[in-house]
Amino acid sequence: MTRLDTVIERLKAQRSCLNAAAEALRGNDGHILELGLGNGRTYDHLRDLFPDRDIYVFDLEVASHPDCRPDSAHMFLGPMSETLLTATDRLGPNGILVHADIGYGDAAATARNVREIGPKIPGLLVSGGLVLCDQALDTVPELTPIPLPQDVEPGRYHAYRRV
Ligand SMILES: C[S@@+](CC[C@H](N)C(=O)[O-])C[C@H]1O[C@@H](n2cnc3c(N)ncnc32)[C@H](O)[C@@H]1O
Repeated sequence: MTRLDTVIERLKAQRSCLNAAAEALRGNDGHILELGLGNGRTYDHLRDLFPDRDIYVFDLEVASHPDCRPDSAHMFLGPMSETLLTATDRLGPNGILVHADIGYGDAAATARNVREIGPKIPGLLVSGGLVLCDQALDTVPELTPIPLPQDVEPGRYHAYRRV
């Protein structure tokens, strides 16, 4: 598999997981949290899937496409090790979906992100809320793995339910 194939499969997996979560969460009250705004691609997809929900985004800074920027009331800028705690205080455990796209090219930085960010996710979610992540979060005790959509290869993306 070439690097191009890998990127394409990752993006297809993201889209399938987000679509499946929207279907599973239909009728549930709560907001959405996007950890890693980046270019804004998955934020744009989320706002299409959840047009009536508040979507809060997290990143070090805003570098997304100008058409894919939330207003300042829906942005938490700075290191997520800090902003997730600020958001927990402000928003409480009322999210129904966390999408976390937090991998770097650098394995050590990715592992640090998983260590620092993973344990802070459950405090943002209602019981039964869902987490989709490009990284495995199997060390977070409040998160139980759930099946991926059929078209997503195991390990390509990761899905959990908050107990
Ligand atoms: C892979 S990109 C997200 C891409 C996005 N999902 C999209 O579809 O365009 C990851 C983003 O997360 C941000 N990020 C990663 N770790 C972070 C951290 N610890 N604190 C704040 N932002 C972080 C990076 O700055 C980057 O913009």
